Amino acid sequence: MSYPTEQPRRLRRTPAIRRMTRETRLSPDNFIMPLFVCPGKKIRNEISSMPGNYHMSVDMAVEECRKIESKGIPAIILFGLPEKKDEIGSEATDPKSAVACAVREIKKEVPEIAVITDVCLCEYTSHGHCGIVENTKVLNEPTLKRLSEMALLHAECGADIVAPSDMMDGRVGAIRTALAANSHDDVAIMSYAAKYSSAFYGPFREAADSAPEFGDRRTYQMDPANATEALREVRLDIEEGADIVMVKPALPYLDILWRVKQMVDVPVAAYNVSGEFSMIKAAAQKGWIDEKMAMMEALTSIKRAGADMILTYFAMEAADLIK
Ligand code: PBG
Repeated sequence: MSYPTEQPRRLRRTPAIRRMTRETRLSPDNFIMPLFVCPGKKIRNEISSMPGNYHMSVDMAVEECRKIESKGIPAIILFGLPEKKDEIGSEATDPKSAVACAVREIKKEVPEIAVITDVCLCEYTSHGHCGIVENTKVLNEPTLKRLSEMALLHAECGADIVAPSDMMDGRVGAIRTALAANSHDDVAIMSYAAKYSSAFYGPFREAADSAPEFGDRRTYQMDPANATEALREVRLDIEEGADIVMVKPALPYLDILWRVKQMVDVPVAAYNVSGEFSMIKAAAQKGWIDEKMAMMEALTSIKRAGADMILTYFAMEAADLIK
């Protein structure tokens, strides 16, 4: 049976029929909004490479969370800017750091929202690498210890979910053990499981001032050419105790997302990263692309490929549009 009997266009004829037959539907429930918190008060400075995103002091971040929650978005992920950086990223484990304070305040003031924290040293180290460095080498074991301390601090402040983004081997297991040993076994781990060494993190590195001072992240983040290895990373993280696994970036890795979704029985997250966001923003500013349509198409593609949840700087704009 084929043309003229079979005519797919019959089901595209009107908005009502298209709506009825639509296979993928976005909801604010699917979104996680990233926020950058910094020390100080009443600070809300726009990040030039990421229009509509801000460095926010804790008081302003709390206000932002009220707004996010009112749009039906269930969760935020926090990134921190330290007062000062050093070799071991001391402020990552400082109970007075911006992130630590933000977690406590947000849990107190906007208790309905799920608080996820990014667990990684790169925002806090003077060299900008995600771990402890010795003679330009990023060391695995000593980094696990720092990351576990960091995750534990976030848990103690009230974080619902910790999200290690460093790509050291064994970090999920180390964090799970540290949480369990300190009566925080109810804190979930969302692991950046298949995290690629990507050029699409460019704007974020301006936002977090975390570009590596020497070398690059290729000795710990994944080679963009590898797919099978992503499945291995995901398997290892689940074995070590990850509750949610993430693929990052999203759009250039939809094939990975699809394969991961087919393989696992835990929820799958995708990170629509800063570069993916800023490309659409920049092209729209030049009048080369319809921003809203491109945004919705990108997010829909990510969900269609298998993402149960999407970390995206578009979360609020997309939630407004869905309503
Ligand atoms: C920290 C981290 C990065 C991102 C999330 N967590 C940067 C990196 O690995 O260089 C990138 C997020 C984005 O680009 O939106 N390791």
